[in-house]
Amino acid sequence: MRDKVFSSPRLEFFVIESIGKGVVELDLVQLTIDGRGVAVPAGTSVLEAAEQAGIHIPRLCHDRELVPFGACRLCVVEIKGLRNLPASCVTAVSPGMEVQTATPAVVEARQVILELLLANHPQDCLTCEKSGNCALAGYCYQYGVRESRLKGESHAYPADDTNPFIVRDLNKCILCGKCVRACAEITGQDILDFAYRGFSTRPTTFGDAPLLESDCVFCGNCVAVCPTGALTEKQRLGRGRYWEMERVKTTCPFCGVGCNFDLLVHGGRIVGVASNETAPVNGKALCIKGRFGWDFIYNEKRLTSPLIKKNGRFEEASWDEALDLVARRLGEIKAEHGPEAFAALSSARCTNEENYLLQRFTRAVMGTNNVDHCART
Ligand code: FES
Repeated sequence: MRDKVFSSPRLEFFVIESIGKGVVELDLVQLTIDGRGVAVPAGTSVLEAAEQAGIHIPRLCHDRELVPFGACRLCVVEIKGLRNLPASCVTAVSPGMEVQTATPAVVEARQVILELLLANHPQDCLTCEKSGNCALAGYCYQYGVRESRLKGESHAYPADDTNPFIVRDLNKCILCGKCVRACAEITGQDILDFAYRGFSTRPTTFGDAPLLESDCVFCGNCVAVCPTGALTEKQRLGRGRYWEMERVKTTCPFCGVGCNFDLLVHGGRIVGVASNETAPVNGKALCIKGRFGWDFIYNEKRLTSPLIKKNGRFEEASWDEALDLVARRLGEIKAEHGPEAFAALSSARCTNEENYLLQRFTRAVMGTNNVDHCART
């Protein structure tokens, strides 16, 4: 007998009444968040515990696929007995903890943090590619922060758009470090880190080189986690606002891993790919092909009808004509040389259903077990 008490896209935790052989006992911590009782495994952060209780705590540097960093401080909360306001993403729960996530002191602290971020932000939201999907703008709206009282120096970095995939505008960077961690922890490429000091601190490549001159593999996982317009996808520039796009979940066709992502569709055409963090295989992670290779769909060299070779030249044919030819020739080969003259090799790029159909056809129609799959070797 067990009751689910905690879940995330990848993990589920249960209170287990009878602890049998091979079952790990979970050490649950009880606390209250905004007056609600919560029980979570020891080591859970206050932010994640709140999430389990259905309470959203604002965050700019936190991502559940990345190691907590505690950079932005927007997730501050009040905890009974503490005089300061700790960052909930890097504060572990403890027994009997009493957390308040939206007291006047917490709200004021978040407003000041947002003002500090805005003090050195271009605020070109009207033309920013991230408009409608910018976490910074969303929280400014939520907390009524229209502008910053703090005036001072601003950055004027040139944008890095010298590669075909990613535009990097560090004037919009809020130093959350998500790109640095995504590159190291999701992709494993580790080409980004913070460089320079103080006001000049920025995430960049070795030697502060453009991405094209670095070891960047252009997976775009940094773009997927960026909360502002500092990192955007070049292919999507000017192709519509996020709220105009329909998201269609699909499976990547490029290899047999089976990564899921959302196709972004605008005006009946695919205009980009977005990570879908509920994807069971890959979470937000994608490779360069999955994230940026979708435009093959509109390549004019793509075959759109069957071709039949006649007199040494390929000629367009109807599907009926092509399928009749294949059926007739396979029948002739089987009749003349026997079933063992036929073999089928299927592909990891096909769906499970397509692969199943091919082996059924091979065994039941052609009468042979000569069937194999490229992923087996
Ligand atoms: Fe906790 Fe940024 S989300 S410090």
